[in-house]
Amino acid sequence: MANPRKIIIDTDPGQDDAAAIMLAFGSPEELDVLGITTVAGNVPLSYTSRNARIVCELCGRTDTKVFAGADKPIARKLVTAEHVHGKTGLDGPVLDEPTMPLQTQHSVDFIVETLRSEPEGAVTLCTLGPLTNIGLAFQQAPDIIPRVHELVMMGGGFFEGGNITPAAEFNIYVDPEAADIVFRSGVPIVMMPLDVTHKLLTRKDRVKRMADLGTRPAIAMVEMLEFFERFDVEKYGSDGGPLHDPTVIAYLLKPELFKGRTCNVEIEVKSELTAGMTVVDWWHVTHRKRNAQVIRDVDADGFFDLLIERFARI
Ligand code: BDR
Ligand code: CA
Repeated sequence: MANPRKIIIDTDPGQDDAAAIMLAFGSPEELDVLGITTVAGNVPLSYTSRNARIVCELCGRTDTKVFAGADKPIARKLVTAEHVHGKTGLDGPVLDEPTMPLQTQHSVDFIVETLRSEPEGAVTLCTLGPLTNIGLAFQQAPDIIPRVHELVMMGGGFFEGGNITPAAEFNIYVDPEAADIVFRSGVPIVMMPLDVTHKLLTRKDRVKRMADLGTRPAIAMVEMLEFFERFDVEKYGSDGGPLHDPTVIAYLLKPELFKGRTCNVEIEVKSELTAGMTVVDWWHVTHRKRNAQVIRDVDADGFFDLLIERFARI
């Protein structure tokens, strides 16, 4: 058995971020979570830093290092999404306040230090929220960019349009300048846009399989998803809401579930109307450099089988 892959999870939990973290914790043979770095996004930083620790405690993983990072985007005012995730970001279940400590180091410093100290190409960045921490790290320490194995992100949308504005997906919209730094950096990127996450609906039969696991983390997750879904069911008129962030971890575990193509992706940073739009050259109509593997298709049943199988191990 190969050594587990070293990852840093950069996140703004969020119920679907929590599901992604749980998927990683359920996969210790494949993934070694070096640290969880939090960022302001779905809710302000104080909540995302609290929520990340709640998820660790829920999964009995109090050994995990959690670092607080940027409390606002690089050049804009913070936009949050309490209308989707509730006031705390993890609304739904009754959850205990965390008792495990937050690390004193800033997320950005942890990311820089880890990439410098681990062997070149050993660390994968998994981003589940706005790209502020990564943008700042790349800006402050460009020497770390070639040391990253790859960056797998949930963000963007092209054929599906946006979910916070008609043009933009939330994670990119919150901090387009950070996203722009990342997409221009040359780091190998795998992008999970709304085009793929909208195919992963938390249908009743899937949530029931999760509930049937009967464990405390699984039940808490079901209660989170039931809260989180309400908004999406109303918005999309679907059976269940899209489960965005676990795609990032699922890709590391089973890339064969996903299909996409390598394209040029640029971020709109100037226009007010389309700020944060991910402009994907899917048809290769320009000669701009292909800088991201853009995922568009997924084996949805295979994805939920994986999720439930790994939740069962927590
Ligand atoms: C993304 O935005 C957040 O609301 C979710 O956690 C996910 O990361 C989806 O657009
Ligand atoms: Ca998120």
